[in-house]
Order: sequence, then C-alpha cells, then structure tokens
Amino acid sequence: MTSRRARPAEPFLFVILGATGDLTRRKLLPAVYRLLAGGLVEAKVQVLGVGRTELDDEAFRGWAREALGEAGLDSDTSAWCDGCLHYLSVGEGGDVDYGPLARRIAEIEEAAGLPGNRLLYLALPPSAFGPAVEALGAAGLDRSPGWTRLVVEKPFGRDLESARELNRLVHRLYDEEQVYRIDHYLGKETVQNLLVFRFSNMVFESLWNRERVRSVQVTVAEDGGIGTRGGYYDRAGALRDMIQNHVTQLLTLVGMEVPVAYDAESVRYEKIKVLRSVRPIDPQRDVVLGQYRAGEVDGEEARGYLDEERVAGGSTTETYAALRLRLDSWRWQGVPFVVRTGKRLARRVTEIAVVFRRPPVALFESLGCEQTLDADVLAITVQPDEGFSLYFDLKVPGEPLRLRKEPLHFRYAERFADLPEAYETLLLDVVQGDQTLFVHADEVEASWRLYTPLLDPGLPVHGYAAGSWGPEEARGLLPGDAGWHTR
Ligand code: BG6
Repeated sequence: MTSRRARPAEPFLFVILGATGDLTRRKLLPAVYRLLAGGLVEAKVQVLGVGRTELDDEAFRGWAREALGEAGLDSDTSAWCDGCLHYLSVGEGGDVDYGPLARRIAEIEEAAGLPGNRLLYLALPPSAFGPAVEALGAAGLDRSPGWTRLVVEKPFGRDLESARELNRLVHRLYDEEQVYRIDHYLGKETVQNLLVFRFSNMVFESLWNRERVRSVQVTVAEDGGIGTRGGYYDRAGALRDMIQNHVTQLLTLVGMEVPVAYDAESVRYEKIKVLRSVRPIDPQRDVVLGQYRAGEVDGEEARGYLDEERVAGGSTTETYAALRLRLDSWRWQGVPFVVRTGKRLARRVTEIAVVFRRPPVALFESLGCEQTLDADVLAITVQPDEGFSLYFDLKVPGEPLRLRKEPLHFRYAERFADLPEAYETLLLDVVQGDQTLFVHADEVEASWRLYTPLLDPGLPVHGYAAGSWGPEEARGLLPGDAGWHTR
C-alpha cells in the first residue's frame, strides 16, 4: 500500500469500457482495487465492466480475483469483488449499441443509491475510441444527474487529422473540463518530481537555460520486444507509440517555463507553449529510425522484429526513433534536445540527461593535467532506480594533478518505502476532478503537428541488433563530439 492519505470523494459509478482487456487486467483493476479497497478514496463506489466477452457478474468477479492475484494483491479480494463489481457484455461487431449500458447504469445507481456521478473509462483499442464515443452520445451517456468524466487512453489519434477529428467528436458531447486524456508517464512519481525539482530549487532553475546547458538528452529505452502486441504495434511504430506521447511529455516538462500556479490550466498552458516553440523537424537531418534484428538481450537470444507474431512480412515499422528538436524560445535557443526510444535495447531505462557547457578555459590543462572531456551532467532517472545523479569533476588525491568525473547521487529507494503506481495516481486525480496530469486537446494536437510529417513511409529504417543501443547513425544527432550519456 502507498503511504498517501485517504481523500474524500463523492460517490460514483466507475464504468470500464474494455473490461476484459489486457490494460484492465494488468493496470486498471489493480489500481482501482488499491484505491477503493485500500481506502484511499473515501466514497461509495460501484464498478461496472463492459466488454465483448460473454460473462455474467459471477464469472467477471472470478476473472477479476484472478487478475488481482496476478498483480500480487494477495489479500482476500472476494468481499470487494462481490460487493462492487458488475459486468455487462455488449454485442460483437457492427455499430455498438450502448442502450443496454444506459439501462444497466441506471439500475446499479438506483440499487446502490448513487447520485449519478460517472467515470467512463475507455480502455479500448485506439480504433474503437471514436465509435465508443458516438455510441455513448447516442445512448444519452454524455449527461447525467451528477458529473460525467471521460477518460481516454493513448494514443489519441494516429496523426494530426485523426486527433482533430477525435477531439471534435469528443467535444460535441463533452466539455474539455470533462475529458481526461491519459499518458501514464505523467502519473509516474519521478516525472511529477521533475516539476518540484525544477521549480522548488533555485539552484537548478538558475542553470536551466541556454547560457549553462549545452544539450538535453531524453532516453526511453526498453529491453523488451513487442511481445504479443504485434497487431497493434506494427500499425503504430515508435513515433506513435512512444515519441508523440511519453517522450514528448518528458520534453515539455524539462523545457517549460515556470507556471503562474500549480493547476491544470497554468501547467498545461506552459507545456503547450513548449510544443509550439519547436521548430519543424527536418526528417532527413533530424530523424534516425531503426528496427531490431535478432540479437541477445540479457544473455538470452532474441528474435528480430520481422519474426515477431502478427508483424507483416517485410514490415518497415520503426521500433526505434531518435530525433533532434530545436526550441525557438529565449530560454532554449541553440540547445538541441535529442530524444530516443526503442524496443529491444541494451537495458530498460528512462533518463533525462541535462548536459552542461564546459568551462570557457581549460585551466588545469596548462598544468599538464588531462582535462576530462565529458561535460558535467545532471542525469534524472525516471525508471528504474528512480532518482538523480549530478556528475562533476573532482581532483584525484595525490600527484600528479588529475581530474575525474564523479557523481553525487540521490535514490528514491534509499529514502522512501515505495512509490505509488502511475495508474493509481491518475485515477485518484480523475476522481478528484484534477486535470493537471492529463493531456489537453490543444496539447495533443500541437504534438501531432510536430510528428505527423515524419509518419510518411520513406525514411530509411536502419537495422540494429537486439541488445544494442540502436542504430549508430543516431549518434550524429548529438552536438560535436558528445556521446550518449545513458549507456
Ligand atoms: C506504453 C506503450 O504506452 O508504454 C508500450 O504502448 C510501452 O509499447 C509502455 O512498452 C512503456 O511503459 P513503462 O511504464 O513500462 O515505461
């Protein structure tokens, strides 16, 4: 359990569309359970799962108990499942009809004495978002006697046009204040800590600009492949799956100005400004794409992407993307932001490296001392081993005079017992009506505006061995003789 305080909330009905899917099983249900059964939300809540699988309430509760067990929740979950969970199967294929859903919602609310507050969670494949929203509207589920909040998973759209279309559709039925576009990276404690780190510590904020910073690197590396998700991934690729959302969120939090207040409007406004300041990306010069070939990860043989299940023969989908972005702003003019993400890389690590400028004069070289070539770096590790390290030069004791780069470390695990799960944090915020950690309609469009021109097939996709750090060509995106900080 987390060490957070219980927060009072109004009674509500939690409706999960896509209730028997993988996301619900692995992430949502355990998070809902921890929040509700763990007493973090002090309110009367019922949960209605909606899915295409034919199940009755009893069978769904059994399925849920299993899912909770798999998530390591070994306490007796039966009482909670029996007292809270309901299920409704909706027909397969064709146009979805949520008429039966509207009736079931009314029944549950009446029986449980709920006031009509509804949290509608679209845990669906991206292609189903639009039809589901239409069906909710047709069934009158865009309004209720209490509040209605709509949570939409990522990716929100496939490109700028489809994201706009989805926004238009959603806004026909719901106000922006009712819409919670999820990017689970924003729920990670260390990502939120970026703002505290920057805006609560004068020492770092005073260095956070073009005068002191030479470049910023963002690495979101995964050692895993695409597993069983070939059907989805082969149509998405790294640009849509990671860059447009998770990586971009990290970029905006590093690049943003100090908001006037820590609230949804002010924080999101500053993030949108960052995206609008990014110069159009030159696909030829600023982008390197890759696809993993067979190799070895953690001592185990790993097959190549083209041999993964449900990947089209000869697919050119990128499993790696590295980009150089330039922000045309007073703070960041001339400082390249180089971001990269990939599957089947050498290890799983998400890290932001702020690389500082070197001193203008290499003072100690004149004493015959080898000046270290590496610049000072602030490395913020989002996962795993959450924390940060500040690398700087110090004198190696004794003669002759030698310098060495050494880190000053802070590690969350050494100071705090546990970190809450991202989904738990985000769900709690939806329940409280706090949109700060959710993506605004303008933000999602500003992000797609940047990357849509890169989605056309035709850019070279370099092969890289599974277990490596991706295509060598990506190194060319870094300034001068710099290397990647994270290895
Ligand atoms: C998901 C992507 O949004 O994020 C996956 O669809 C990716 O492809 C995952 O593996 C990474 O999340 P995390 O929290 O494990 O870094």
